[in-house]
Amino acid sequence: MLQSLEKLPPDPILGLAAAARADANPDKVDLTVGIYMDETGVCPVFEAVQRAQGMLVEEEVSKAYLPPVGPEAFNTGMRALVFGAQHPALRDGRISSIAAPGGCGALRIGAEIINAATPGARVWVSDPTWPVHIPLLGSVGLQFETYRYYDPQSHGVNFEAMRDDLKQAKSGDIVLLHGCCHNPCGADLTLAQWAEIADMAEHQGFTPFIDIAYQGLGESLDADAAGLRLLSERLPEMIVAASCSKNMGLYRERTGVTLFLGHDAENADALVSQAAVAARRVYSMPPAHGALIAGRILEDATLTANWQQELASMCERINGLRTQLVAGLAQVTDRDFSFIERENGMFSFLGLSREQAVALREQHSVYMLDSSRINVAGINAGNIDALVQAVAKVL
Ligand SMILES: Cc1ncc(COP(=O)(O)O)c(C=O)c1O
Repeated sequence: MLQSLEKLPPDPILGLAAAARADANPDKVDLTVGIYMDETGVCPVFEAVQRAQGMLVEEEVSKAYLPPVGPEAFNTGMRALVFGAQHPALRDGRISSIAAPGGCGALRIGAEIINAATPGARVWVSDPTWPVHIPLLGSVGLQFETYRYYDPQSHGVNFEAMRDDLKQAKSGDIVLLHGCCHNPCGADLTLAQWAEIADMAEHQGFTPFIDIAYQGLGESLDADAAGLRLLSERLPEMIVAASCSKNMGLYRERTGVTLFLGHDAENADALVSQAAVAARRVYSMPPAHGALIAGRILEDATLTANWQQELASMCERINGLRTQLVAGLAQVTDRDFSFIERENGMFSFLGLSREQAVALREQHSVYMLDSSRINVAGINAGNIDALVQAVAKVL
């Protein structure tokens, strides 16, 4: 029976990263996968993570199961981190949460709950969106509609078009929004635009589902969550999937959380009980290690301060790289790349054609996706000139 299954091609992004690794050119530039790299090209372990991990190793006396929602310190810390410690809904018990295997696991649990409430619900996704959204939510049985979002001409959000498309979203529909640092385009909504989305959700009755995988890597922890907080202050319900992969560097630990804003405390409690049952049938229990580390960091004031400092310097570095890239490209091309500085987070579409992206890797060992999406955090002082010169050559 199993012989009928054919070998599948590699994932397009991971496949390109593998091609970059296999490239023997010592001056190659790999801007494919969305992980933060430091100046030396290494994806570092946060010091706060190392310290929290050390404490846990010292203290740990058991590997018995934790509660199905994961460690309490993690849940408490993540609710405050995402919604803000002073959020009235936190005080009113309207926010519940469950630890999940990474942001992907958190999205999956959110999708399970949506499908339990409205089987086959319509989910509105941005065009473009992170490609994994479709198989991840679609495999639960959800259906998709797209709303226009990124405008390649202006390199920004086409909010008029987004609003026009979302006029068709109704009660029972879900609108999936990137909380910050849109992947793949880096173009985010302004707060005034988030407020318009809140108006539309209020009038039309759709439920927002926020994917926030880069909180703290756009502007700051609070500024990056301001849009979703604005929605949560005005709307009766929403779901948030948050990840600690990027902002704590816990990629391989699989650390995420699904947060529910319910109509009242009873509803919030019902939602998380449903989520625990959904998790039970998919993978039973969330992984503990990363959630224990993140929980320890968030409950310990010194570790929190250390972590926030490290994260802020990563964010500053990414924004500095954006500035340097704009300046570098301005020197060698006559195209306007200033949009790169207006975007947030790790990603940007350079606005090159597929042929140019292919020529960059085949002729210059500069690896980016065919869409010309780059991971800005993969740039450093040692490779920026090669990148800039190569882009100038293919233009
Ligand atoms: C938009 C978006 N959402 C969610 C995730 C989830 O990541 P993870 O499951 O590794 O936490 C990612 C990771 O790349 C992402 O880019």
